[in-house]
Amino acid sequence: MKSFKDKVAVVTGGASGIGFAMAERFSAEGMYVVIADIESSALDTAVNRLRALGSRVMGVQTDVSDADSVGRLADATMEAFGRVDVLCNNAGVETGGTFLGIPPRAWEWVMDVNFFGVLNGCRTFLPLLEQRDEAHIVNTASVAAFASGTATMIPYCASKMAILGLTESLEVELRTAGSSVGISLLAPGPVKTNMPKAERNRPADVPAASEPGRLATLERLSRLAEEKGLEPSAVADMVMSAIRAEEFFILPHPELALAGVRKRLHWMETGEPPVIRQAGT
Ligand SMILES: NC(=O)c1ccc[n+]([C@@H]2O[C@H](COP(=O)([O-])OP(=O)(O)OC[C@H]3O[C@@H](n4cnc5c(N)ncnc54)[C@H](O)[C@@H]3O)[C@@H](O)[C@H]2O)c1
Repeated sequence: MKSFKDKVAVVTGGASGIGFAMAERFSAEGMYVVIADIESSALDTAVNRLRALGSRVMGVQTDVSDADSVGRLADATMEAFGRVDVLCNNAGVETGGTFLGIPPRAWEWVMDVNFFGVLNGCRTFLPLLEQRDEAHIVNTASVAAFASGTATMIPYCASKMAILGLTESLEVELRTAGSSVGISLLAPGPVKTNMPKAERNRPADVPAASEPGRLATLERLSRLAEEKGLEPSAVADMVMSAIRAEEFFILPHPELALAGVRKRLHWMETGEPPVIRQAGT
């Protein structure tokens, strides 16, 4: 995409962290921004913060795991602005434990938000994006899309690998068809956000993760993000550049993503399994 002024961006999970930073970045380009988020108080705060900076922004409370809710987000966007040019399927959550310690509802929650949320966004908005001469989708995965084996994070890893498969395959279909819609995969490592507190949005029937190993993973991840994490605004700058340059992979931590891929390749080529590591060690 080459021009952004007066165009419309929709950002899911836009009330916090990376999503909020993307909303702020798009506003700075002169775009209209629709922030979609499940957390209504955080959504109001985010909208007010951006309005105070002079941004043209609208908030729509949305549950990305619910296709009807995403449909209402698209309707509200079209009613307000009559077009959509950029879609960031960014909302994500995380919970986990040892494999047999993870209840089925926890699996469903993570897959419903992380994977089906992205799928719902792509399915609902692609026909609207295709009405534009140029448009772009950014799907937020994680380095976990390339690097498996982090203790207590199996659902998150599986959901992010599913986003990778969806996004790579959709890219091929769109490019083969000569679509006006470009697509990118954002796969960050540690970023300073509220992700370690993702369970704040867990539905009432999803039990809180409580295994000691799980709590230790969360503690390590929080520390890692705090000490070595990127600022969300730095990630948003990379997203903006990638949309402009039509780059598929947005890798804020290329060394972590590439290490994950190399580890798998080595395993496949030699049969030697990788060394087990804990998150943040
Ligand atoms: N922070 C990191 O270190 C990191 C690393 C890799 C990938 N990511 C990914 O980045 C994305 C953004 O997360 P973040 O780190 O900014 O965390 P965050 O918790 O600060 O933001 C996530 C946002 O998603 C919203 N959300 C949760 N469930 C939702 C639902 N069902 N419908 C709509 N919105 C919902 C939350 O309310 C929140 O505003 C996620 O997909 C996450 O997996 C984060």
